[in-house]
Amino acid sequence: MARAFGKIILAGEHAVVYGYPAIASTLNLEVRVSVKQSISPGLVFVNPKIDPEHKSTALFEQILPKLAQLFGDRISGLEFQIESDLPGGCGLGSSAALSVALIRSVLDFLKEFRSASEIAVMALELEKIFHGNPSGVDHTVIASEGLIWFQRGSSEKIIPKRPLNFVVTIASPHAGTLAAVQAVRRRYEENQAQVIGLFEEISKLTISMRVAIEQGDLSEVGQLMTQNHEILKKLGVSTPELDALCELAMRQGALGAKLTGAGGGGCVIALVEDQSLFIGKTAGSLLCILPASVG
Ligand code: MEV
Repeated sequence: MARAFGKIILAGEHAVVYGYPAIASTLNLEVRVSVKQSISPGLVFVNPKIDPEHKSTALFEQILPKLAQLFGDRISGLEFQIESDLPGGCGLGSSAALSVALIRSVLDFLKEFRSASEIAVMALELEKIFHGNPSGVDHTVIASEGLIWFQRGSSEKIIPKRPLNFVVTIASPHAGTLAAVQAVRRRYEENQAQVIGLFEEISKLTISMRVAIEQGDLSEVGQLMTQNHEILKKLGVSTPELDALCELAMRQGALGAKLTGAGGGGCVIALVEDQSLFIGKTAGSLLCILPASVG
């Protein structure tokens, strides 16, 4: 069984598409893929909720031809069984995790080894089916695992001085990463100076966040997350529901909170000192709370 974790973005989403840095981490929810020779080859979704964002089977239908381009006819006649703990379309990297898990499952089946960066390159081809021109942060962090610093074309691990504990609250599925990235693109084309200004602010705080993570200054990390959320609001990718979830987390003592991923719905991540204080208490209108721990 091949596995791949989902991801959260601590800082830098959207700006990363334009070449600015981002900080991302895997989280402890995964997609699992098992593969076998079958008389009915194809993709079988054991858990159909994997990806409401991409309900359109037309997208999923492109996966096997793409895998065949990558691996040739050695994969013909294979059946892929897919299960996911990750809610789809919520900014937690379900399609990138699916892409990485599929590549890993084929490699396991063929008994071939590839490095994390080679897997990321192959997964990018699948990820493009769903996201057109992704920055690469999602499948790079998912292929390498842990906490990373990412800038188009390069990535490196970040070692936190103290563990970072998050609660991840799900607001609602979003309209899709592609739609959110395109909305930001339109805004960029309408008012480049303003949007570049916002990206520059995000970039500065992302750099500061790396320093704070490496120095173990959790309250600074939290404040920078909250600042990042404010800028994402100005960029037009937050929603009243996401804002309310951030405010709720802060009222309950979080060190910082922000939307994560594309926005327009999806999830809020809150940096907290003690996850157990949050589990079950922030429920209210929320769909669920997932603990994630980094470091
Ligand atoms: C999506 O998880 C992150 C975005 O920055 C898109 C991308 O990096 O490709 C919104």
